[in-house]
Amino acid sequence: MRLWGFVVLAWSVASSAAAWGKGGSYWLDDAVGLAREFDGIGAVSGGGATSRLLVNYAEPYRSQILDYLFKPNFGAALQILKVEIGGDAQSTDGTEPSHMHYEDDENYFRGYEWWLMKEAKKRNPNIKLIGLPWAFPGWVGRGENWPYAHPDVTAYYIVTWIIGAKKFHDLDIDYIGIWNERSFDSKYIKLLRYTLDKQELQRVRIIASDNLWEPISFLVLLDSELREAVDIIGAHYPGTTTVLNALLTQKKLWSSEDYSTFNNEVGAGCWARILNQNFVNGNMTATIAWNLVASYYEELPFGRCGLMTAQEPWSGQYTVNPPIWVTAHTTQFTQPGWYYLQVDGHLEAGGSYVALTDGQGNLTIIIETMTHDHSECIRPPLLPFFVSPQKATFHLKGSFSKLTALQMWYSKLEFTSSNSTLFQSLGPKNVSEGMVTLNLGLDEVYTLTTLTTGHKGRLPEPPPSQPFPSCYKDDFNIRDPSFSEAPYFADQTGVFEYFMNTSAPQDHVFTLRQVVTQRPVTWVADARNTLSIIGNYKWVNLTITCDVYIESDNGGAFIAGRVNKAGIYVGDAQGIFFWVLPDGTYRVTGDLHGENVLMKGLAGVRTKSWHTLTLILTGSNASGMLNGNLLWANVTVFYPKNGWAAIGTHSFELTQFDNFQVQAS
Ligand SMILES: *[C@@H]1O[C@H](CO)[C@@H](O)[C@H](O)[C@H]1NC(C)=O
Ligand SMILES: *[C@@H]1O[C@H](CO)[C@@H](O)[C@H](O)[C@H]1NC(C)=O
Ligand SMILES: *[C@@H]1O[C@H](CO)[C@@H](O)[C@H](O)[C@H]1NC(C)=O
Ligand SMILES: *[C@@H]1O[C@H](CO)[C@@H](O)[C@H](O)[C@H]1NC(C)=O
Ligand SMILES: *[C@@H]1O[C@H](CO)[C@@H](O)[C@H](O)[C@H]1NC(C)=O
Ligand SMILES: *[C@@H]1O[C@H](CO)[C@@H](O)[C@H](O)[C@H]1NC(C)=O
Ligand SMILES: *[C@@H]1O[C@H](CO)[C@@H](O)[C@H](O)[C@H]1NC(C)=O
Ligand SMILES: *[C@@H]1O[C@H](CO)[C@@H](O)[C@H](O)[C@H]1NC(C)=O
Repeated sequence: MRLWGFVVLAWSVASSAAAWGKGGSYWLDDAVGLAREFDGIGAVSGGGATSRLLVNYAEPYRSQILDYLFKPNFGAALQILKVEIGGDAQSTDGTEPSHMHYEDDENYFRGYEWWLMKEAKKRNPNIKLIGLPWAFPGWVGRGENWPYAHPDVTAYYIVTWIIGAKKFHDLDIDYIGIWNERSFDSKYIKLLRYTLDKQELQRVRIIASDNLWEPISFLVLLDSELREAVDIIGAHYPGTTTVLNALLTQKKLWSSEDYSTFNNEVGAGCWARILNQNFVNGNMTATIAWNLVASYYEELPFGRCGLMTAQEPWSGQYTVNPPIWVTAHTTQFTQPGWYYLQVDGHLEAGGSYVALTDGQGNLTIIIETMTHDHSECIRPPLLPFFVSPQKATFHLKGSFSKLTALQMWYSKLEFTSSNSTLFQSLGPKNVSEGMVTLNLGLDEVYTLTTLTTGHKGRLPEPPPSQPFPSCYKDDFNIRDPSFSEAPYFADQTGVFEYFMNTSAPQDHVFTLRQVVTQRPVTWVADARNTLSIIGNYKWVNLTITCDVYIESDNGGAFIAGRVNKAGIYVGDAQGIFFWVLPDGTYRVTGDLHGENVLMKGLAGVRTKSWHTLTLILTGSNASGMLNGNLLWANVTVFYPKNGWAAIGTHSFELTQFDNFQVQAS
């Protein structure tokens, strides 16, 4: 059945100008042979830290969000989940912890991606799993900021993650990537294939290179060993098109990262358009959204660029945004392993359609008529095009010629959610003499299908939105053993983990510890020192208190307020930073890199002993206390005006934090 497109197209388009507008006829016939195999619609968690706040939702809200994402015949019913293989480094909206911080370290219970993959599998055992690194712990590069200096080490590190997924979580990873949106190395890809095979992981397929169509396609054509190693050519933000060399490889072509658009009605329009047109224009058989769920502070880069929004675990509020229902139009009525029918896919008066079959008589047709201004994605730029209302007649042939009715599902996107129709069941639509005719309007999505299992999941409204609590404390003593991170802390450089020292004084047995001791092989410019943010970006006046324990002579710790930048911009973060260093000095700086010194002096802080820092910010007046005594005061601060609270270290060294407390007014 795999024809890989070398067939002569058997579609035809007969235009019949209807009185009121244009109209087209479209033939759907499986007897002429099928087109490519469909591989699924999915989304990315991570790249980076995009699901950070999701884990901190209380039940039942957390399960409800997961149901909207993964549960079959309920919401988005995703068919693919792609996760970041945490690399201890900044990967867009935060850092995600590695399973191997150090060469002799292995731990498969860090972060939230393991948990998320299990929750996805629990709901849909057939969901496909993909792992992709954005960054790597420093030891993988053996001192070089480059993962291919020692490709054997990198392959070992990646395959270890796949083995750990199975061993500790019974998760079978289906696909593995190379290095997100960065260089690839043919030698490394071959070595990765070899290492997988040696571990009897032949079933794990390789996607390359999660960047552009070239040069990977060209090299796959040129190098037969590379051709053997690579299973899927994955491109990012392809703008629905591919290139000749990619087609010539005869490989599966995927849009392995796409969307990344604010999740309003236009974002939903973007998603509807690319879900169809990535196949119609670019022969792609899977499309994967960045990102799965916007579960990170909204002021971080690409705020709310998830299929839905769950960024308020403290209130329980979340939003099922329209991209969820656009996804359902495809995912609830197809499965990976179905085949596309050979069709041109372009509607006469603009818009597109695709048709898929399971090869057992089921048929699903998805139609979209997105207009230009209603379907722009964040990238690439969208050239002008026109769509008009039109009549479309589908002629069902081959196995489908005897169908008498198709279930119809309908969405119409307006510019505000309140007026949009989202994934509405219109019941069965009669097929008469193998024909079905629709009057298509603008910005609409239709599904016509033989499947009767579609369902629009509905749950009670979650609680109303609330700002982050203005008085917040964590002594790190009460912890959910499933997670390594303290609630709401969003690491931006370095990794902050729960730590236990049974021989420590009783009130410091359970702490939070920064554990990255070497600069990672980075994906973007991580800060020179580590930082974890928390709270409300709008905070202005606040008192932050935290106990710190510097473990090394090269260490140092800070607490900060009004931190104004993070994510990929973390290196430019400004704020008011109160540092203590093991040489006994303190500093107050206006930036994370400690270059803009506002005040400095002696504090007497030593390593391996606990100290309590307090930072008081009131209007333009900043002051600081050490162990409850005023250490410095009257430092004038005008900028930034507001921002998150934060804790962090002076370098990549072990440092512990305890009894964190913030009071905002
Ligand atoms: C790619 O898609 C186009 C348009 O549907 C089709 O004509 C062509 O045969 C396809 N090519 C391959 C190699 O699949
Ligand atoms: C369609 O799919 C359903 C559910 O997977 C299956 O039971 C049925 O046999 C398939 N074929 C037809 C013609 O409905
Ligand atoms: C959309 O809804 C808003 C209120 O929710 C209303 O004011 C507006 O007229 C509606 N627009 C259309 C086109 O129906
Ligand atoms: C659809 O077909 C059924 C059964 O043939 C018939 O009873 C019904 O009236 C038809 N509905 C429409 C809207 O044509
Ligand atoms: C654990 O606590 C003991 C006793 O206070 C101390 O000597 C040791 O340095 C601590 N270890 C760490 C890693 O904090
Ligand atoms: C912060 O405190 C200053 C000084 O008390 C006050 O003028 C200002 O209104 C406060 N700002 C906010 C947002 O509370
Ligand atoms: C801060 O300013 C206040 C009011 O001007 C003054 O009373 C106080 O002594 C100053 N404190 C320090 C530590 O300079
Ligand atoms: C600044 O705040 C500190 C601590 O609250 C206080 O002691 C000091 O007097 C304030 N300075 C001014 C000028 O208000």
